Amino acid sequence: MLLSPFAWSSKRAETGQGRVALRRFAGPAAYVDRMRPVRVAHVTDLHVGRVTPFEIQREAQALVNAQEPDLIAITGDFVCHSQLYLDQLAQLMAGFRAPVVAVLGNHDYWAGAEEVCLALRRSGVEVLRNQHITLTVRGQAIQIVGLDDAYTGHARREKAVAGLRRDVPVLALSHIAEEADLLWSRGIPLVLSGHTHGGQITLARLHEITLGKIGGHKYVHGLYGSRRANDNGGAVYVGAGIGAAVMPLRIGDRGKREVTIFELGVPPGRFDEHHAEQRAMRGRAVSAWKLRRRMAKVARKRDQRANRRTAQMPVVP
Ligand SMILES: [Fe+2]
Repeated sequence: MLLSPFAWSSKRAETGQGRVALRRFAGPAAYVDRMRPVRVAHVTDLHVGRVTPFEIQREAQALVNAQEPDLIAITGDFVCHSQLYLDQLAQLMAGFRAPVVAVLGNHDYWAGAEEVCLALRRSGVEVLRNQHITLTVRGQAIQIVGLDDAYTGHARREKAVAGLRRDVPVLALSHIAEEADLLWSRGIPLVLSGHTHGGQITLARLHEITLGKIGGHKYVHGLYGSRRANDNGGAVYVGAGIGAAVMPLRIGDRGKREVTIFELGVPPGRFDEHHAEQRAMRGRAVSAWKLRRRMAKVARKRDQRANRRTAQMPVVP
């Protein structure tokens, strides 16, 4: 049977041979014996807006749906720079064929966190803002912790983990991967993250220089930490994301747009994976001064939006 060019490209998209890579990992050993296998699809940094063609986000969605996940986790930066594409975002979210849990990223805060959140929730997405919920997946309970965006100073770890049960498996989402260290100490074996876009250009390990050495990130792209049981640590996965906020260019294997599948409850080593756990980079703590500047930027943008709205209101004579 002859396939039409569209069907052919759609097939490539669904198998990860298109513009979006498909990577698959087994969940940390801590989940084994505590749950039956659960398939989580992780996507991050969709950046719906004018920089990334919408077909790319649709391609990522087709790839996610083709994997028939039990749960979809999205770790922030849904938008680019404005609220102009919220209808498109809502349309995209409504096309996922499994429950979606999510946290916000810095671009969502810059564009308007409340409005982005509203658009997501209207489409059935469970947005977690420094809280955790218990979902029933494949007939078993799993706790999902969602940390609000740490880049812009909105993460409240203690609030997010307060009341977590030790006897129920738990997975965490955080736009910023460096938050994982503290989440591990609260008994969370796996944290899914984004933000870095894997550096987008990763030839000659350029991403480790720009994001790691210069940018101060401990976790740049892929899997870090430990998936072994009972070692008081945990693992974090930094997805390369789907979209971009400035330049849609992606060069190099690690910078490729990606959908990541985590087979929770399946022991590591059961199947071949894209790469093994990597050593963290040195990293650099964000100073209080820098964090204050980032928070001020969010407030400034919020005021600008309010002023624009006021200026557009009709003058009553
Ligand atoms: Fe981003």
